[in-house]
Amino acid sequence: MPSSLLHQIATFLLLLCFLRTSSAVLFSSLHQALIVTASPRPGQVLYAGVDQIRVSWALNGSLPAGTGAAYAKVKISLCYAPVSQVDRRWRKTRDDLKKDKTCPFKITTTPYASVGGSYDYAVERSIPTATYFVRAYALDSSDVEVAYGQTTDAKKTTNLFHIIGISGRHASLDIAAACFSAFSVLALTFFLVAEKRKAKQ
Ligand SMILES: *[C@@H]1O[C@H](CO)[C@@H](O)[C@H](O)[C@H]1NC(C)=O
Repeated sequence: MPSSLLHQIATFLLLLCFLRTSSAVLFSSLHQALIVTASPRPGQVLYAGVDQIRVSWALNGSLPAGTGAAYAKVKISLCYAPVSQVDRRWRKTRDDLKKDKTCPFKITTTPYASVGGSYDYAVERSIPTATYFVRAYALDSSDVEVAYGQTTDAKKTTNLFHIIGISGRHASLDIAAACFSAFSVLALTFFLVAEKRKAKQ
C-alpha cells in the first residue's frame, strides 16, 4: 500500500533526524565544571619542539556534590585563540563539537579523578605558530563530552600564550643564512680587492 510505505519513510526520516540530534554535542550545552590551569604566563612565547607546558585540572569544589560522578576521562587539548582563527575557516569554532576546529591538538587523555591531576606536555614540533589556550573536556564512559574547563575566559581573550612553530623559525633561519652568505661574498670580494691592490704596490 502506498500510504503505509509513505508512513514508513516518514518514520525512518524522523528516526534519522532524532539520531542526528541526539549524537550532536553542543559546546554551549556543556557545564563548566573543571578548573584548568597551564604553566605559561599570559603572553609568554614558547617554542615548538623545545618548551614544555604543565597542565593541571580539578573539579570545581564549590559545585554540588555528585558533580563529576559520570566523568570517566579528561581529554586535554591545545586550542586556537580567536586572534589566530581570523580568516582561517579551517580553524573555525562551531558549537557542534564534531565540527569544531578550535582545539585540534591533543595534549593527553587521562582517567578522571575527583582530586584532579596534572600533565607535562612537550610542545610538539608540528604545532604551528599561533596564540593558544588550553581546554579540558570531561568525557563519560562512552567518550562523550559532558563538561569542560579552560585556562581562558568565556570570550577567550585572557591568559593566552604564543607558540612559535618550527616552520616559522626556519623562515627566520633562512633569512639569517642568506644574510651570512651575502656578508661572506662581500668580505671575500673586499679581501680579493685588497690583495690585488697590495700586489700592485
Ligand atoms: C566554581 O563554581 C562556582 C559555582 O558555580 C562559580 O561561582 C565559580 O566561579 C567557579 N570557580 C571557577 C574558578 O570557575
